[in-house]
Amino acid sequence: MLLLSLVVMLLQLGRGCCGLPFYNGFYYDHVMNDKGNGNGNGNGEVHFNGVKLVVETPEDAIFTYRGANITLPCRYHYEPTLETPRKIRIKWSKLREDNTKERDVLVAIGLKHRSFGEFRGRVHLRQQGKQEASLVISDLRLQDYGKYRCEVIDGLEDESGIVELELRGVVFPYQPHHGRYRLNFHEAKKACEEQDAVIASFEQLFKSWEEGLDWCNAGWLLDGTVQYPISVPREPCGGKLAPGIRSYGERHKNLHYFDVFCFSSALKGKVYYLAHPEKLTLEEAKQACQDDGAELAKVGQLYAAWKFFSLDRCDAGWLADGSIRYPIAFPRPNCGPPEPGVRSFGFPDKGKFGVYCYKLN
Ligand SMILES: *[C@@H]1O[C@H](CO)[C@@H](O)[C@H](O)[C@H]1NC(C)=O
Repeated sequence: MLLLSLVVMLLQLGRGCCGLPFYNGFYYDHVMNDKGNGNGNGNGEVHFNGVKLVVETPEDAIFTYRGANITLPCRYHYEPTLETPRKIRIKWSKLREDNTKERDVLVAIGLKHRSFGEFRGRVHLRQQGKQEASLVISDLRLQDYGKYRCEVIDGLEDESGIVELELRGVVFPYQPHHGRYRLNFHEAKKACEEQDAVIASFEQLFKSWEEGLDWCNAGWLLDGTVQYPISVPREPCGGKLAPGIRSYGERHKNLHYFDVFCFSSALKGKVYYLAHPEKLTLEEAKQACQDDGAELAKVGQLYAAWKFFSLDRCDAGWLADGSIRYPIAFPRPNCGPPEPGVRSFGFPDKGKFGVYCYKLN
């Protein structure tokens, strides 16, 4: 199945070129060549008798951050070693959350390659070393984390390895303007995107829980489950169970309403507290950022600045969604609880505050 879809793709890739041999709808290039034109050993034998193709990828996940250029290493070799180099095809794909279906990232035959979907124009192969098939992804996006398959195809031999890419980031709970438990799954995804973030995966939430995240409202996760992280067990938050992630399990994506956990990684640009002589309304705050060549910061941007640049400011300020927050990296008296964090005052209907702006550079 996998091979067939690849074959179809390769045919599209090579369309109009080269008169590729075609057999029964399959693309048996090497086998035909081996029989026909001396790419084999001259006795008409198929190459792969006793020769194994081995694909190697790193066991540990690659850690990076948003905006980075990253290489996913992949190498292949033959056992025993072959004297003559062989024509191979390389295919990179990305596994979906449930590890079943895959999405095409890049396919290469010789010097020709093609990238797909959101990877178009952002990926290329690195083949500096002999038998290297590494994938370079540039300007990494929040959605790019996950597992990638490096597949090497030599005729009918098809071997692959998996590389896991993880983003360093920060998970934050999000509740919209109109209150607690107002988002179905689709709205939850959108709410995160509006804050320059993505809906968090269970792994991301788990990692944040290990780092101390404690939140007593249940939120959607990418896999369609609803969960919340508790570090300090207490009665209204799942009772006296051990600390952990409390789960409501999978919920109906259209009919059930909760908060959401969002994930953001490092920031391009910067978030800053605008120096301004007086406190502002939300409208005035928006204008003040614009006058400064910036825009109101989004919640995900404030969290990223707090997490990655230790933004620390004990002044409450407007954000783009109409909430009032401030980031504390170095806790001290009169600046909220004793742990570092982004403090929130919710969404005031009126009142004047400072403002956090965001500028790309
Ligand atoms: C990534 O690569 C592009 C193109 O080669 C380059 O312009 C950019 O500065 C690089 N970004 C980083 C973060 O290194």
